[in-house]
Amino acid sequence: MSTNNVRPADMERITTPALAQKFIQEQVEELKAQIGDKKVLLALSGGVDSSVVAALLIKAVGQQLVAVHVNHGLLRKGEPEQVVRVFRDQLKANLVYVDAVDRFLDKLAGVADPEQKRKIIGAEFIRVFEEEARKLSGISFLAQGTIYPDILESGPVKSHHNVGGLPEDLQFELVEPVKFLFKDEVRMVGKELGLPDSMVFRQPFPGPGLGVRCTGAITRDRLEALRESDAILREEFEKNGLAGKVWQYFTIVPDYKSTGVKNDKRSWDWPVIIRAVNTRDAMTATVEEIPYALLHHITQRIVTEVPGVNRVLYDLTPKPTGTIEWE
Ligand code: XMP
Repeated sequence: MSTNNVRPADMERITTPALAQKFIQEQVEELKAQIGDKKVLLALSGGVDSSVVAALLIKAVGQQLVAVHVNHGLLRKGEPEQVVRVFRDQLKANLVYVDAVDRFLDKLAGVADPEQKRKIIGAEFIRVFEEEARKLSGISFLAQGTIYPDILESGPVKSHHNVGGLPEDLQFELVEPVKFLFKDEVRMVGKELGLPDSMVFRQPFPGPGLGVRCTGAITRDRLEALRESDAILREEFEKNGLAGKVWQYFTIVPDYKSTGVKNDKRSWDWPVIIRAVNTRDAMTATVEEIPYALLHHITQRIVTEVPGVNRVLYDLTPKPTGTIEWE
């Protein structure tokens, strides 16, 4: 496996299922040769990149892969369950599922500053992963879902999923089978590996997850309102053909309330903000023009189905001036 970080000039762009199959075969052979009969560890977030790496490794070395999924409580509705269903039940992977929800939410309690929240989530993630790694014996390799844009940008975007910051005794040799692939190539490979479309064509999701959409100090009830409203938005976007068209769409639940009326009684509840944007590189973004009828329908569903919510707003702000996330 190449140790440098430049995509080989003669590497063919993966544009067809046949080319994806060819890549898979070659990678499986390389992984087998690199790993031999040793064990390899992977932090499996359930995002496209780590899922594709997991599927490649399962194909190459089967049970020698130990995939660790940390549920930090800030994932979208159904995501941790999907990771277990796909990797443990269907692909028969050696999956360690870590329920760290209370741990993360306790650490985050009362913390309102966005950067502080990010730091806590990142640090706690590494701590949990480290603990799991220490429980295992005989690990020789650490697999990562690094992709080519991560290398090109080498930005902080994936910092907490890339567990390179592990202490000395947990410094394993790296396995990065998709590090020269662009996102569309990773998706094509994932599809050919038989991963579900809902995983392969997933919209971008920030490492700190719902944590940066439950603004200010996270509370469990507001996080629940966020998860439920996000699930409704995603369901409606899928039903109405917007899911594959809009680059990123989600809800935000801010940490303030407003008055409302429900069942002839005055209410004092949270608003839900909908954000749906299109972009090429996330540096600038435009707002999707969602049909009004659909916005009304989604609003109606959210205010009736999500406890603690009495208002829905649509964020019409492009980037600049608004960032895509609210924190
Ligand atoms: P902003 O909000 O800066 O977001 O316009 C641009 C893109 O980056 C994602 N994002 C993050 N991704 N960790 C991540 O992995 C983060 O802390 C983070 N903050 C923003 C955001 O979802 C959007 O796609």
